[in-house]
Amino acid sequence: MMDGVGDVASPDATSMAREQVVTPWDVEGAEGGGIDYAKLVRDFGCSTIDAAMIERVERVTGTRAHPFLRRGQFFAHRELDLILDAYERGEKFYLYTGRGPSSESLHLGHLIPFQFTKWLQDAFKVPLVIQLTDDEKFLWKDLTLEECERLARENAKDIIACGFDPKRTFIFSDVSYMSTPLYKNMMKIAKCVTLNQVKGIFGFTGESNIGQVGFPPTQAAPSFPDCFPHMFGESKTSLRCLIPCAIDQDPYFRMTRDVAPRIGGYKPALIESRFFPALKGESGKMSASDATSAIYVTDTPKEIKSKVNKYAFSGGQQTVEEHRRLGGNLDTDISWKWLNFFLDDDEELAKIGEEYSSGRMLSGEIKAKLIDVLIPICTGHQEARARVTDEDIEQFFSTKPRVFASLFGDMGDVAGALDEATIANTKPGVAIGAPTDAKIEKKGLEKAQTGEDGGAISKSQLKKQLKEQQIAAKKAAKAAEKAAGQAS
Ligand code: TYM
Repeated sequence: MMDGVGDVASPDATSMAREQVVTPWDVEGAEGGGIDYAKLVRDFGCSTIDAAMIERVERVTGTRAHPFLRRGQFFAHRELDLILDAYERGEKFYLYTGRGPSSESLHLGHLIPFQFTKWLQDAFKVPLVIQLTDDEKFLWKDLTLEECERLARENAKDIIACGFDPKRTFIFSDVSYMSTPLYKNMMKIAKCVTLNQVKGIFGFTGESNIGQVGFPPTQAAPSFPDCFPHMFGESKTSLRCLIPCAIDQDPYFRMTRDVAPRIGGYKPALIESRFFPALKGESGKMSASDATSAIYVTDTPKEIKSKVNKYAFSGGQQTVEEHRRLGGNLDTDISWKWLNFFLDDDEELAKIGEEYSSGRMLSGEIKAKLIDVLIPICTGHQEARARVTDEDIEQFFSTKPRVFASLFGDMGDVAGALDEATIANTKPGVAIGAPTDAKIEKKGLEKAQTGEDGGAISKSQLKKQLKEQQIAAKKAAKAAEKAAGQAS
């Protein structure tokens, strides 16, 4: 059993015991082996990312590809090409990713999607929403709902420490954000999916609790921008969505993509990674509940050294003589695999691969190199986390309306100028300047997003908007108070 949880039997797990199993709750290689990613791509029906696509990402962003992309850690996608087509036409998108808060802190495997998402946010200059599924962990784990809510806040600190831009990032926990349009979207999705379908996709059985069976729409809904009116306005087609994650989350979004056109939304695109393997060998993803399989971002240098030396599966040979003659096995050596994720210098990495596989570098030496790389990553993360204040957390979790256009940085003014109609339509709780359905329909999405109808919002326009929103909010509050008074 890997990170995640799960007494949900997958169809693979029950009927074909020797097959690999990859579900959001359970990741295991076929007997005695690692994960067969080519098979996963075939079974799931996603596409692999080729060199031309990486080069295209570099061209449209003007940024060198992140090592996770250059080295094929993020190796699969769904309709990333459409996101890039749209981006080249001047249309924006938003990023959506998440974490199931089941433990006090993250392990190194969890850092992979978050570090990559941070790079995507900086490279494309786009907004981001991060879902903390405290409800999911409550349903699957032996934890109270209150404990899951607490863990969500603790995990948020680790996530914030990855360096996301607070202006462009909204973090929410399901339990705290449920009384919003997120719930409306969940209901619309839920109505489109039958019990037989979720049994097929997720392997639910008659023994699964009904919370588990009903959970998938919760993770599906944030793929639609109108779940976040304070970020993106109330239109379902104001933005496309791109989801970075490891490939275990694919089933949720296969379901989402199927439903999207039926509820009037875009299918979300995905960019999916391999698993950062467990210390003890590559048969699954790293588990947060097995301390010897994982290095946590909270581990001390001493713990890191001891865990790597004791548990990191070695592809080295039995004796030094044999190792010098046969060399280390890069296909199974965990230190080598981890260096592929976390050693930035391509040349140094290639040299280590050559030295180790030829036998000139010994197992102890490659482990020592890995320890040198991991210690600053963990201590740096711990320092960044310690700097996260309660006010920082409030800023990321705030549902105060954001200024839509300013979320996009250099990308210009997505919403267009704040014309009279937009000003008149400004509603309390809705992002200032976000395009409305009517506006999108009138102009066509592409036109509305090229900024043809105006430049950036001026400061005085913004002030005016804020004031109008405040007045509207006050009026609404007064009316509600009056109504409540009359009722009682
Ligand atoms: P969770 O908390 O299991 O994992 C959080 C993110 O980390 C990825 N991940 C890994 N990536 C590489 N190597 C590993 N060993 C490894 N272990 C975990 C996961 O794929 C995920 O991206 N249900 C989700 C939370 C969620 C979510 C989302 C994730 C809600 N909405 C949208 C991705 C996208 C969960 O429990 O993730």
